[in-house]
Order: sequence, then C-alpha cells, then structure tokens
Amino acid sequence: MSASKFKIGVLVSGGGTNLQAIMDAVKNGDIPNTEISFVISNNANAYALTRAENAGIPARCISPKNFTSRLDFENALTEAVVSYNVDLVVAAGFLVIIPKAMIRAYKDRIINIHPSLIPSFCGTGYYGLKVHEAVLARGVKVTGATVHFVDEGTDTGPIIFQKAVEVLQDDTPKSLQLRVMEQAEWVILPKAIEYISRGLVSVDPETRTVKIKQ
Ligand code: GRF
Repeated sequence: MSASKFKIGVLVSGGGTNLQAIMDAVKNGDIPNTEISFVISNNANAYALTRAENAGIPARCISPKNFTSRLDFENALTEAVVSYNVDLVVAAGFLVIIPKAMIRAYKDRIINIHPSLIPSFCGTGYYGLKVHEAVLARGVKVTGATVHFVDEGTDTGPIIFQKAVEVLQDDTPKSLQLRVMEQAEWVILPKAIEYISRGLVSVDPETRTVKIKQ
C-alpha cells in the first residue's frame, strides 16, 4: 500500500511566486510524497489562485469583505483550513494575521516566509516591498529571507531556515525584492516543507528554538 501523502494547505494574497516554487518542488520530487490539498486567498484577484486552478488544486477566496465582522472572517478562514485536515499550513505571501484559533488548532504546524533576516525588518508594517525599502534606507549590506513557525506574535515564531542575499549598490526595492525571492524565498520555503514532511524539524520545548535532524 502506498504511504499516505503529506498534505499541505497554502495561504496566499498576491502573485503566488512562493506557491509556484512549492508546486514546482512537489511536481519535480524535491518535496517527496506530498500533495497540496488547498490554496486559500483573502484576495479574489490574487494571481496565486489562478496558478492553483491551472494546476487543478482546490482554490478559493475567503475575503474579509464578505463578512460583517473581522471575527466572522477569521472564524470562516479557520474553519475552512481545519476542514481540509492537512498536516501543515504554509503562509506564502499571505498578508493576513493568522487567527489565534488557527494557531491553537495547528500549534507548530503553520509556517510563514518573511523577506528579511528576522529579527531585522519584521513585525507590524514590514511586509512585501516595505521590507526592502527599509533595508535600503538603513543601508545594510546583507539581507535575505526567513522561514519560521507561526506563533501568536508577528514574525516572532521559531526560525526554521534563513538564507542571506547581498544588497547591491544599485539596488532598488523592486530589484532587491526579486533577488531575495529568487535566491532565498523560493529556495528555503520548499526546503522547509521537505524537511518537515520528513519529520526532520522539531521545536525545543524549553528554548523554543528549532532543531533540524541532519
Ligand atoms: C514576497 O515578497 C513574499 O516574501 C511576501 O509577499 C511577497 C509576494 O509573494 N511574503 P508571492 O509572490 O505572492 O509568493
């Protein structure tokens, strides 16, 4: 009997290039024995939904605009995610704060990609291009990306992988964002999913730091 597949669900808000990197890694076997059970976006216009639909992955929009209160939206999002009963939830360019109810239901089973080397340039207000604008304004010479478990803070959960990217003299926020995506995000997010699917990642209960079995 074939081993049951490791099931993941992906939360998206925008272009879905991180989702595409995950889809490609599942398809080419870099992430073995895994399937993407759903893609959910808060944004009906997210091209990420088109990527999922084109690949035959169940894709839907759950938008706060369709609910009378933020709590109703958060409950609907949480219920939808829980209903798929996946092994791992991946926030890939997802610009919504993960509801506390979902974090409780999926303790240390939700990961997020952030486009800086946490704890630099993260937290409230640091997302998308704003991160790279702040990096250039500060004049740091190295930036990168971080994959971490999601806890109840903003970008504060245990760090799984990080990858550094050099800042170039003539970088603009857009050129830097693209290089961080290409050289870091699209590498470490699929790698984190692969390692988790193989049971190689754990969080030390005392220190709340990640241990990777080599
Ligand atoms: C990327 O900068 C990612 O780091 C951030 O959202 C942006 C768009 O990601 N979280 P994607 O193309 O939608 O994956």
